[in-house]
Amino acid sequence: MPDTITITDDRTGKTITVPIEGGVFPAAAVRELDPSLFIYDPAYMQTAACKSAITYLDGDAGILRYRGYPIEQLAEKSTYLEVAYLLLNGELPNPAQLAKWNDDVIHHTFIHENMRKRFVDGFHYDAHPMGMLVSSMAALGTFYNDAKEIHDKDSRDKQILRLIAKMPTLAAMCYRFSVGLPFVYPNNSLSFPGNFLNMMWRIGDYEIDPRLERAMDVLFILHADHEQNCGTTAMRVVGSSQADPYSSAAAAASALYGPLHGGANEAVVRMLADIGHIDNVPAFIDEVKSGKGSRLMGFGHRVYKNFDPRATIIKKTAYDVFEVTGKNPLLDIALKLEETALNDPYFVDRKLYPNVDFYSGLIYQALGFPVAMFTVLFAIPRTVGWLSHWQELLGDKEQKISRPRQWYTGEAARDYVPMPQR
Ligand code: ACO
Repeated sequence: MPDTITITDDRTGKTITVPIEGGVFPAAAVRELDPSLFIYDPAYMQTAACKSAITYLDGDAGILRYRGYPIEQLAEKSTYLEVAYLLLNGELPNPAQLAKWNDDVIHHTFIHENMRKRFVDGFHYDAHPMGMLVSSMAALGTFYNDAKEIHDKDSRDKQILRLIAKMPTLAAMCYRFSVGLPFVYPNNSLSFPGNFLNMMWRIGDYEIDPRLERAMDVLFILHADHEQNCGTTAMRVVGSSQADPYSSAAAAASALYGPLHGGANEAVVRMLADIGHIDNVPAFIDEVKSGKGSRLMGFGHRVYKNFDPRATIIKKTAYDVFEVTGKNPLLDIALKLEETALNDPYFVDRKLYPNVDFYSGLIYQALGFPVAMFTVLFAIPRTVGWLSHWQELLGDKEQKISRPRQWYTGEAARDYVPMPQR
């Protein structure tokens, strides 16, 4: 069987045959048939907008790999910073490379004092931490004029390091501002997740439990990249205009803010709290199925139609955390919901399984994070994914400024109607 596809334009009888490579054929074939012919593909359901060598995802088989390494092995054996190096550079670091990378990140965690004093302190007292984070990320770029030198590798590397290192600092600062606590400065003797937990929770004496520090690191690993999702696509689209990486990452974080994307775990916890008791689960499921209520948040995925491998790892991490913190009271409702949905033809037939967000919110809550911080916790590790894709985009000679076409469905040309005649 040839690995080609033949398309015939029945209007003209013109035919074109092009190769199928890796399950993809070039849309340029359509352009050759007729340059004014476009493919209608809302939400890019069937469109590959780039080539990428970073993350492999097979939704039907439930496979997720970073640079070829299975997520299960990375979650068990690696650290977030090692994974960040891998995503950015394509290979695992050797001991010397890892030591230097860890040291570089740890020494870029401080932010300019004006960022806090003049910028963050100016937010309204009840501002949402994710709203604060998104704008702080864009504002951070204004402190580095070299950020615009995106064609200079040294400058790019410096901005990448700064963004990865300063995200936990910005995130903790936004949180502490929102609850009126004094800002805790980074402590360079701590690990990446340990430093974040310390900046979040230190009031007087604060001992970091190594099990919670590891759980935080595992959550960071699981969220580091997920190929061309809504946020990463935003990063690539804005980055394609050659905007600086801070502005592009702020756009990606804005995309992550939405409840259908990074905001889903916040929605899961609110949903579990609304359900209130396991006895109410069947009625809630009936309401979801009727289409009159909300969706079952934390279930379903655009790509995973079997299971989300991150959900399996995260469920285990949840139990590790609950051993230290005690069980989250919403866990029983979550387990009942999961069991009910996985045995209900509505969810089975539509291939709806728990996604990474179904359990992550319960863990964050057990760790003491308010729900408003959940998306912020997602944005910290995803920053490396965004930056890896940004770097790849800039080195890809086939890429240009993103500019999709539209299917115009509006009025045909008509004359302006003067005000008295309307
Ligand atoms: N609960 C109930 N029904 C659902 C759900 C859900 N969570 N998700 C999908 N469906 C149903 C749809 O109503 C639709 O049914 P129909 O064919 O009878 O109309 C069918 O399943 C297909 O749904 P689509 O919306 O076409 O699936 P899509 O791939 O566009 O949506 C999405 C994926 C957005 C993740 C969806 O499953 C959803 O809204 N889930 C809840 C929100 C969520 O958990 N988001 C987190 C995603 S993971 C992440 O971003 C990190």
